[in-house]
Parts: sequence; C-alpha cells; structure tokens
Amino acid sequence: MTVCDKVWVDLGARSYEVRIGQGLLTRAGAEIAPLLKRRRVAVISDETVSALHLEALRDGLGDIAVTALALPPGEATKGWPEFSRAVEWLLAEKVERRDIVIALGGGVIGDLVGFAASVLRRGVRFVQIPTSLLAQVDSSVGGKTGINSAHGKNLIGAFHQPSLVLADIDVLDTLPARDLLAGYGEVVKYGLLGDATFFDWLERDGPSLARGNKAARQLAVTHSVTMKARIVECDETEEGERALLNLGHTFCHALESATGYSTRLLHGEGVAIGCALAFELSQRLGLCSQEAPSRVRAHLKAMGMKCDLADIPGDLPDADGLIRLMGQDKKVVDGKLRFILARAIGEAFVADGVDMAVVRNLLTESLAQR
Ligand code: GLY
Repeated sequence: MTVCDKVWVDLGARSYEVRIGQGLLTRAGAEIAPLLKRRRVAVISDETVSALHLEALRDGLGDIAVTALALPPGEATKGWPEFSRAVEWLLAEKVERRDIVIALGGGVIGDLVGFAASVLRRGVRFVQIPTSLLAQVDSSVGGKTGINSAHGKNLIGAFHQPSLVLADIDVLDTLPARDLLAGYGEVVKYGLLGDATFFDWLERDGPSLARGNKAARQLAVTHSVTMKARIVECDETEEGERALLNLGHTFCHALESATGYSTRLLHGEGVAIGCALAFELSQRLGLCSQEAPSRVRAHLKAMGMKCDLADIPGDLPDADGLIRLMGQDKKVVDGKLRFILARAIGEAFVADGVDMAVVRNLLTESLAQR
C-alpha cells in the first residue's frame, strides 16, 4: 500500500487538496470524478509530457471522455500565441463553464493552462497534474497563473486556484537529471526561506532524493507543499508574506531574461543561483554570517547544481544591465526593487531600500569570475 499525503490549502470557497503519492495518474479517474458534472475532461499538455504520460492518464481516467491538446515544450510556449491557441481550442472543444480542464505538465503548462481556465467563459475549474519536481513543489500550488511578455516573465496573468492538485511521485522517474535538479532549486528555497531543519535534512538526504529515493521525494514534495500552503493561506494575492516564496527570484528573473528564457538557464537553476546571490548579498549587508552563503553554495555544489554566474554558458549583460532587467520584477514598488534577504538559513524577510551599490558590486564581482 503506497502512501498518499494530503495537504489542504485553506482558502475559503477556493480551498482544495494537494494529493502527493505514487500511482496517482493510474487512479486519476477516482481522484477527479467527484469534481465532474459530466464525465468529460479536456487535457492540455506539452508534446514531451504527452508522449510520456497521456496514455497512462487516459487509462487512469477510465470511462471519463478525454479530449487532449499538446503544445510545444519549453518556456517559449508561455506567451500569447500558444495561450490564444489553447483558449481557442478549449472553446472549439465546447468546454463548458461547469467542466474541468486538466493541466498535465511542468510549470509552463500549469501556468498557461491555469490562466486559460481563468479567462475561459470568465472562469472554469482546473486540475493540476504537475509532472516536474518544480511544478510539484511550487508552481502547481497557490493559484499563480500566467504567461510571459516581451517585458518580462509572468507579467500577464491572474490568481486562479486549481480545484485539485495530483502530484504523482512516480512521474518524476521520467525527468532528465537536469530538470530534476532544477526543480530541486525550488525545494532548497523552502529550507532557506523558512525552515533550517528542512535544510539540514536536504544536506543529508538531498543526494538520495536525486538518485531516485521515492520516500525522500515524497517527503520533500509534501514538506514543500505544506510550507507553501501555509504561506498562501495567509497571503493569497501576495500583499506581504507570500513574497518570501520569491527568494532568489529577483536575480533569477533577470538572468532568465538575459538568457532569453532558453535552455542556457532553466528556471530552477536561476532560482538556485538567485538564492546563492541573495544570501551573499545578505552577508555583504551585514545581515547574516559568512557561514550562511558558504553553506548554501556548498550544498548546491554537492548536488551538482549551478550556483554561480560563472555556471551560466554564453554572454551576460554587465551589472547595470542585469539591474535594469530586475526593474521589471513584480515586487517593484514605486519603481524601487524589493529583495528577499535572510538573517540566517531559514530566516528570510522582505527588504526595501537595499543599497544598490552593494548589489552592483556583488554582480560585478560575480561576473568577473566568469
Ligand atoms: N512561486 C511563488 C509563488 O507561488 O508565490
């Protein structure tokens, strides 16, 4: 008998459960059926995930009729053209207001499909079936949906909570090692932002998780989702505390923009580098000990992850260029950047009024090491 952990995201009328366990895809019909008003679902995936998992999902859905669309894989999909294609397809498939749309895929698919569901007929319900570690621990939970703009990442979107999240630990077996480790960047983020004991555990058991230990994967996903659920419950629309979940993301979004949202830098890799930079910045501002950034980088290195600007292939803009790219961050208030900094591992906070000369020096020195 496999374990299925259940995390309730308590948001009043928008509450839902995140189920985490093995074999969820193969019993998707039983999991989703209570939500259905008619036995029909529309599934949107990408071509890679669809080839790997759509048949298993169809089998798991049993006699529930399935109509499916596969979009191209990759971050470039997360823009107006594929978004519009998805919405028009849902309309052509006559998906009605009371129907359920399923997002089967990683963060790109979850964000795009969630946004499509939020605007379709002024809002239909959707189920997230996240297939990447990154999507299981972060993007499938909390209702942030959206697409990218030429002006920056995730700048067009809506808060639209899913009705259910099914995180099947087994599907992580099919992830390329690079994608799994990129998702691990978001797992580390949870330890760094609010739970030093979890970070201790990751230092010890992260390598076993990466090698495929299912119990370690289940624990890491459940713990991350529980932390995220508690934060989202307090601050669904990111007026305050939820911004902590953006630890590492101010740097990350600038780096992703600088690398053209390409495979030069995956989102989770950017988060890992961004977390290392945020801790280094905290130390330079006298907020945390020298030991903290060293420990962060040592763990990322031990996991074989990118942790420095030097680990990003190809050219990057100079420090001022990167700071300009940070200017489109959604946390900008009155044109001023807000950073997530830390007093120690597990003690992050939102910081206004950071001395940009220190940021510039940090970036200049990090770029010089390339
Ligand atoms: N990924 C950050 C958030 O959901 O708030």
